[in-house]
Amino acid sequence: MKGRESGMPAEALWASFFDAPAILAAIGLRDDDTVVDYGSGYGGFALAAAAATRGAVHALDIEPDLVALLAARAAAAGFDALRVRQCDFLAGDDGGLAAGSATLALAFNILHVEQPATLLVTARRALAPGGRLAVIHWRSDIETPRGPPLAMRPRPSDVAAWAAAAGFGAAQTVELGAAAPWHYGLVVAR
Ligand SMILES: C[S@@+](CC[C@H](N)C(=O)[O-])C[C@H]1O[C@@H](n2cnc3c(N)ncnc32)[C@H](O)[C@@H]1O
Repeated sequence: MKGRESGMPAEALWASFFDAPAILAAIGLRDDDTVVDYGSGYGGFALAAAAATRGAVHALDIEPDLVALLAARAAAAGFDALRVRQCDFLAGDDGGLAAGSATLALAFNILHVEQPATLLVTARRALAPGGRLAVIHWRSDIETPRGPPLAMRPRPSDVAAWAAAAGFGAAQTVELGAAAPWHYGLVVAR
C-alpha cells in the first residue's frame, strides 16, 4: 500500500528544498557505507549517496515510474552499485535485502505513513550491528512550503519513541541548517 501523502511534487520544486550531499554529510554517511533508501522517490538522495560511498546503495520505492526513472539515471551516471527495486515496505517487503546487509538506512520524508513501525522494523532487520538509521522530516514548529498535514507529521519525539519501540538506541539530533531549512534530522543506532 502506498503510504498516505507520499506523492511527489514536480521534481524541480522538490529538489529546491534539499541540498542532498550536505544532508548526507550531516547525518554521517561514510565512504564505505552500504545504504538502503526507503521511498527513494526521484532518487536525489540515492544518487548523492552513490556518489559518496564505495558501498552498494539500495533504492526502494513502490512507484514503477520512479523506479524506472532512477534506474535509468543510475545507469546514465555509471553507478553500477546503485540498485533500484520496486517494493512495498509497508507490506513488510524488504526489497530483497538480506538481514544485516546495510550499514546506513535512510527514511527521508516517509515516516508520516500509516505504519511507521513496519518500516522501522524492516529497516532494523536490514541493518548490520553498528548500523544507523537516519530520518529527516518536515518540521511542525515552523511554516513550511510543503509537507504532509500538520496532524500527520511525526515530531522528533514521535520518531525517537517509535524507533526505540522497534529496538533502536537513543536518537541523536542532527543539525541540518541550510541543507534543509524546513526539516529536522535524527540518527538512531541499531
Ligand atoms: C514524499 S516521497 C519522499 C522521497 C524521498 N525519500 C525524498 O525525500 O526525496 C515518498 C516516497 O515513498 C514512496 N512510497 C510510499 N509508500 C511506499 C511503500 N509502501 N513502499 C515503497 N515506497 C513507498 C513514494 O512512492 C514516494 O516516492
